[in-house]
Order: sequence, then structure tokens, then C-alpha cells
Amino acid sequence: MSNAASFGIHDLSFATTEYVLSHAALAEYNGTEIGKYHIGIGQRSMSVCAADEDIVTLGAAAAAPIIARHGSERIRTVVFATESSIDQAKSAGIYVHSLLGLQSACRVVELKQACYGATAALQFAIGLVRRDPDQQVLVIASDVSKYELDSPGEATQGAAAVAMLVSADPALVCIENASGLFTADVMDFWRPNYRTTALVDGQESVEAYLQAVAGSWKDYGEQGGRTLDEFAAFCYHQPFTKMAYKAHRHLLDHAGHSADQADIEHAIGQTVAYNTSIGNSYTASVYLALAALLDQADDLTDRPIGFLSYGSGSVAEFFAGTAVPGYREHLRTAANLAAIARRKPVDHARYRELHEWSFPADGGDHPTPQQTTGPFRLAGVSGHKRIYQAR
Ligand code: HMG
Repeated sequence: MSNAASFGIHDLSFATTEYVLSHAALAEYNGTEIGKYHIGIGQRSMSVCAADEDIVTLGAAAAAPIIARHGSERIRTVVFATESSIDQAKSAGIYVHSLLGLQSACRVVELKQACYGATAALQFAIGLVRRDPDQQVLVIASDVSKYELDSPGEATQGAAAVAMLVSADPALVCIENASGLFTADVMDFWRPNYRTTALVDGQESVEAYLQAVAGSWKDYGEQGGRTLDEFAAFCYHQPFTKMAYKAHRHLLDHAGHSADQADIEHAIGQTVAYNTSIGNSYTASVYLALAALLDQADDLTDRPIGFLSYGSGSVAEFFAGTAVPGYREHLRTAANLAAIARRKPVDHARYRELHEWSFPADGGDHPTPQQTTGPFRLAGVSGHKRIYQAR
């Protein structure tokens, strides 16, 4: 057993969809002034799944490069965090485990608490690798955000998966022990089991998020956390990128810090590049913010990064990580940019067709049209079973 002193994110990789809808196309269709999307909510486009993509194919595509780089011998746990579950009983992680050829000596579970799930997965994973630093945990955050067509939430849809290898002596980011927690029973956003699209009280959800920022920051201080001015940057959950700016201003006001717009831009600006183009990827979003920050920032070695993870309903956690010396050699910047650039634009009519796509629930054979050019696809359902393939 090694004498590891630090634990955290050893590798991070993400995948997104085959298609993309621009907010310009959405605005042209629904008559919205484009400034509301580009400036008001800070979104340029949203990732749209092909008919043969889902949280499993995205999750497997995100994780495959990690397995290719590190092998899978030390992975004895896979935690799949999602709120877009495809089965009420079976973990989506088991399909990924199979597609990636992971060893049978492995525990696989699915975890849910809206957009907060992946942070719970990360913290639980750190507990496991602390117990046995020779083991690694594969955390997969994968979500498809869907609201009703023509609803206010529609402009904040998106889809992506982030995979993280959690280990002792990590190569990217050490996660610190101090952690601020906040839970409140609120109905700001939810999705009953019989619905494919989320229900949301938009303004209430923004308020609930801001309350959770203050609540988790308060607890973080009480747990011996760092002071605000120690942080080099802040990765917030980004349902739309403007929310990160609202949240950071709220945190600064709450903590009695005066800050101008340039200070806020300095703290947030390099975290939004991927989310502004992908849209809300729910539980993956805060880790896409981290990917964008690490890919774009000047050297962050040994600099603390603040994380605010929020999941409606609601649970929030504020915690800190520090970039590890040499982390830049392990980044996947080119692949990250390529994942965004490879998406094919769809027009509004095609987007609506994809939005409405669903399988009949009659137990028959229903192959999907071949659409994705990603490494894995959902080939269809047959006898109520989902059939996945490596392409
Ligand atoms: P809306 O009613 O369409 O928009 O809802 P609005 O009228 O509030 O306008 C949005 C902003 O655009 C405003 O700025 C306007 O002033 C501005 P703000 O006052 O907020 O600073 N605006 C313009 N700016 C420039 N030029 C213009 C222009 N016109 C207007 N021409 C809302 C927006 C986000 C509420 C809606 O999209 C929605 O309901 N989204 C879904 C819910 C959501 O994302 N909530 C965020 C917090 S909850 C969360 O993060 C959890 C979540 O990820 C789920 C989970 O945890 O699983 C959602």
C-alpha cells in the first residue's frame, strides 16, 4: 500500500453529442431578441443527442480515453451520477462497464441528486481511495437536460458526460478535506418518474441556488475552509453561464467583499467556455467548468480553486481543490475542443424531431437510425432491453 497524502482527480475527459442547435436558430424560430440568450443567460448553443445517443453512450465515450491512458486494473468501483436515468433498477454504469470491458471484480452503482450527484460521487470516491490508495474509482457524470418545447427552460438545455479517474497522488487536482454542505427541501426543479422533461419554477430555482451558495459557504467557513481571497478561480454549477456570475456576485456580497465586474470576470471568465457552447449538462456541468479553466488558465500550480456544486431540490457543497505540479502535461485540451467542434449543426425543425424522439413502450423490436459517429451507440430496444454497441 502506498503512503499517499493527497487524493483527488487523476484524469478528466468529456464527451458531448453528435448534434448542436445554435441559440441564433432558436431565437429566429421563437422571436426572442438574441441578446437575451447571448448576454442575458450567456448561452451560444446547446448539444442535442442523436436518436442513438444517451447517457450511457456519452458516459462510455467520456471514459474510454481514460481507460486507454491508464488501463483499468486498479478500478474496483464505478459510480455513475445522473438525473437522466434510463432504468429504475439497473445502473447505467453497468452498460458502461460492459462497453469498456472492465473487470468483473468491480462494484457499479448509480447516484442521483439532480446536478449535485457527481460531487457526491467524487467525495465518496475519495473516501474509497483513502481506505485503499492502491485502488482507483471511475466517476462518470452524464446527463441530458430536456425541458418542454417552447418553455422558458428550453434555452437552457444541453447534454454531456464527464469521466474522472479518482486516485491517491492525483495528477490533476487534489481535493481538500474542508467542505461546506447545505440541504433544503425546495420544489424549484424536479422530474416525476412519468415525465421525460423537467418541471421548473425558473425564478424560484435561481433564488434557491443563491441561498444554497450562501448556506454552503457559511458551513465551509465553519469547517475551517479557506478565505475568499485565497482562491485563483471558482467553478460553479452552470445551468447557463450567467448563473455563475450571479452566484459569485451573491457570494461576494454575502461575505461582505466589494468587487467590480472585472474581479468577477477574473474569477469566473475562464470557466464558462465549454458550458456556453454545450448548455446545461446538469451534474457534469461543474466539472466542464473545471476542464475549461484548466485548459485555458495560465499556470495554476498549487493555486486553490473553489467549487460550488448545486443540485435542485436541493443540495449544495462548497469545497476546494489545488492544481498539482505538472498538471498541464495531463490535460486533454485538443480532445476537449474537438468534442465541441465535431458536432453537426441542426436546424430548428430537425432539433424538434430529435427532441420528440422516443421508443415505443410495447416490448417490440425497435432499432434506432444510425446517426451518431461517436464510439458507442444505442442500437435499439428489443423486449424492453436496451442494446448498446461499440462502433
Ligand atoms: P426567462 O423568464 O426566459 O428569462 O427565464 P428572464 O426574463 O429572466 O431573462 C433572463 C435574463 O436575460 C435577464 O437577466 C434579462 O434581463 C436578460 P437577469 O435579470 O437575470 O440578469 N435579458 C436580456 N439581456 C440582454 N439583451 C436582451 C435581453 N432580454 C432579457 N435583449 C430562466 C430564464 C433561466 C429562469 C429560464 O431559462 C429557466 O427556467 N431555466 C431553467 C431553470 C434554471 O436553469 N435554473 C437555474 C438555477 S437551478 C439549477 O441550476 C439546477 C438545474 O441545473 C437542475 C438540477 O439541479 O438538476 C436547473
